[in-house]
Amino acid sequence: MRDVMSPDAERQRAVVDVFADLAGRAGYGHLMSPILEDLGVFLRVGESTDVVTKEMYDFEDKDGQRIAMRPELTASVVRAFVQHNPTNLPWKIWYEGPQFRHEKPQAGRYRQFSQVGIEVLGSDDPHVDVEVIALGWRFYEALGMRQVSLLMNSLGDESCRPAYLEALTRYLLDRRTDLSERSQETLDKNPLRVLDSKRREDQAIIAEAPLMVDFLSEETGEHFAAVRAGLEALSIPYEISPRLVRGLDYYTRTTFEFASTALTNAQNAVGGGGRYDGLAESLGGKPTPGIGFALGVDRILLACDDEGCFPEPATAPEVMVLDLVGGSEAIVLTDQLREAGFRADRTFDGRSMKAQMKVADRSDAPWVLIVGEDELAQGQVTIRDMQGDAGQTTIDRGDVITELKTRLGA
Ligand code: HAM
Repeated sequence: MRDVMSPDAERQRAVVDVFADLAGRAGYGHLMSPILEDLGVFLRVGESTDVVTKEMYDFEDKDGQRIAMRPELTASVVRAFVQHNPTNLPWKIWYEGPQFRHEKPQAGRYRQFSQVGIEVLGSDDPHVDVEVIALGWRFYEALGMRQVSLLMNSLGDESCRPAYLEALTRYLLDRRTDLSERSQETLDKNPLRVLDSKRREDQAIIAEAPLMVDFLSEETGEHFAAVRAGLEALSIPYEISPRLVRGLDYYTRTTFEFASTALTNAQNAVGGGGRYDGLAESLGGKPTPGIGFALGVDRILLACDDEGCFPEPATAPEVMVLDLVGGSEAIVLTDQLREAGFRADRTFDGRSMKAQMKVADRSDAPWVLIVGEDELAQGQVTIRDMQGDAGQTTIDRGDVITELKTRLGA
């Protein structure tokens, strides 16, 4: 796991701020659920997926309870929904925070990573699907990302998936020995996941495999068509990706992924989601349809780097206070600057003017205020332009705030 340092950390927070604003304006409340959950919450949602069986950080706590560090948030959200049983449906929430997966770390894939996401429980109106997908799309747009493509599929439901799974399993079993060893194992546990194999030896078989879209029941097909029509009404471009299967077990009907074409490595999925109409029931609640997505903040910022968008927010101070006298003047002045809304920092340790100027220089602050003996005696402060050609002048102590506002404004 890695440390996210400044200014990357500020940039991650800025991404979350953009997301929070968008979700808040669309009627989503913020849910902060615990990072640790009872292991059972996740076991019930993904028993045949790597995320749950191979990659989860789980342990026994001091009471002997089996605990998991969440590998994703959808199961936590649905657990919270079942537990608190909100009556105002659809229940719309957004979240952000760290997830934990014991994967092999590489560029864009980390053991602790950050997601933002939304979930909607209590409606299977296809317009909910459209709202959810559109919110993801508008978010990438708000960050300035232009190289994102939306991949869509329908994974059917209990009315049509069993027949499809039977056809797919039969097809794959007939070709079992030609599949990679890994896919042969996957086939025994979850045939659908074989379609997600990136191994070369599997590709020809996958290319000819039966597709869920050809098996959709009339109702599921109509639902999917309504979702697509909604996206078209919003001019959100998408591609149908009939082999798109997601890495978690709970998906039904609409599923989607956002891929960045700016990211050239294998980790180009900057977000994904879909419907999970059976999840609430499998976590002990009433049958309740649900849909949502999660977007990977770390990967989004890698894509932004490649696209040259959403730069780091400014972290340099706007003004540095140099203290040549000791006493309380520099503390008071710095406090006043901060109270007036400036990003203000100061030097410490009473070092030489030269040493303090070096600190100011390295801080990248455009303006420096110098508190010296003479200035203090005359109720003045020296202001120095570090980046332009305004040079250095003394101003009255009482004018500092207005003077700085003018200069920073200019
Ligand atoms: P997911 O596809 O597993 O879905 O993850 C969503 C996004 O999180 C990925 O597209 C990727 O951007 C990011 N991500 C996943 N693993 C890593 C990693 N190891 N390092 C960096 N980023 C990563 C879910 O988590 C579902 N809960 C989405 C969902 C919400 N479905 C319905 N509602």
